Amino acid sequence: MTGRVSHRVGGIAESATLAVDARAKALKAAGRPVIGFGAGEPDFPTPDYIVAAAEAACRDPRHHRYSPTGGLPELREAIAAKTARDSGFAVGADQVLVTNGGKQALYEAFAALLDPGDEALLPAPYWTTYPESIRLAGGVPVEVPTDESSGYLATVEQLEAARTARTKLLVFVSPSNPTGAVYPPDQVERIGRWAAQHGLWVLTDEIYEHLVYGEARFTSMPVVVPELADRCVVVNGVAKTYAMTGWRVGWLIGPRDVVAAAVNLQSHATSNVANVSQVAALAAVSGDLSAVAEMRAAFDRRRRTIVRLLGDVPGVVCPEPDGAFYVYPSVKDLLGRELRGRRPTTSAQLCELALEEAEVAMVPGEAFGTPGYVRLSYALGDDDLAEGVGRLHKLFAEAH
Ligand SMILES: Cc1ncc(COP(=O)(O)O)c(C=O)c1O
Repeated sequence: MTGRVSHRVGGIAESATLAVDARAKALKAAGRPVIGFGAGEPDFPTPDYIVAAAEAACRDPRHHRYSPTGGLPELREAIAAKTARDSGFAVGADQVLVTNGGKQALYEAFAALLDPGDEALLPAPYWTTYPESIRLAGGVPVEVPTDESSGYLATVEQLEAARTARTKLLVFVSPSNPTGAVYPPDQVERIGRWAAQHGLWVLTDEIYEHLVYGEARFTSMPVVVPELADRCVVVNGVAKTYAMTGWRVGWLIGPRDVVAAAVNLQSHATSNVANVSQVAALAAVSGDLSAVAEMRAAFDRRRRTIVRLLGDVPGVVCPEPDGAFYVYPSVKDLLGRELRGRRPTTSAQLCELALEEAEVAMVPGEAFGTPGYVRLSYALGDDDLAEGVGRLHKLFAEAH
């Protein structure tokens, strides 16, 4: 018997990160003083000059019509220029496809590259969307586990051990969601050379490129391994750099044949990204980086605060991340212990308990393929951050 919902779509799990965020927002709307560490978005408004460009675009009848699927020509040009400026990767405007957020870029890249049964190597902890997007495209995600002992960085040896005759692609993301880990340049290069040597494709997600702290440096893989450029798709977007998550503008950059195939796919799925959003993105990527410099300073301050505060919380082991705006501590020492009359045995249960008893929202490691951990976003106000960790401290200190 055929089911009402297809196997392909019926098998997709709900986005756990969006679900936690929605639950926390609903509780908050109902008047509960919830502190949300769940959201994967900056807490700042979009800078004024970007909003002003969008306002003007609304009134221009040119933007009331369909536009080319691949993106407004001036935006594709600006993204190519911005990429050369920020990462040093030189590409033509025809290698850029403007998408409805980084998420659509990921899906279209996987769909354009993977045939049924093709394997995609996915270092874990991984961002929750990757495996679903790979499966939707017909591919098979193959997890490569890492943990806090290596700073959540995968090695060539681990990747090589997971490689088979069906491996087509590696997913590489640095800075990482959910761990905040940043690969040092020499490790990026080693992994890139290994991929090139074995004829693998690399999908490199650069959406957190500007959010690196301290001594850490962002490195773009096709720049340090130029021979990979013909088998590399770069995913990026304005969401995290310019506090523009709601505008839904991302892009992919790749070899011309892959980009042309992805444009065809998008032409039937969604057509052009909303023109007003594209004009806002144009103002963002053509402007300077002062807005992100300000946000980065605030995130860096909060990063150091949250690592320090969590370091004192009993049962929590929190490595200091070098990028993005997440910490990914282990809570394994708290599992199986009694807490307020309950005995949580999984990080998912512990997160539920924290939401109910302390009104603090976190995303459990189950969402990222690694139970026993929790992800906290520190993209929230300094006072809320201190209050939220304080509540966790009080609650977890009761575990026995
Ligand atoms: C690693 C990573 N890639 C891509 C995205 C997609 O962002 P958007 O679709 O909002 O552009 C996100 C958002 O959370 C992310 O964390």
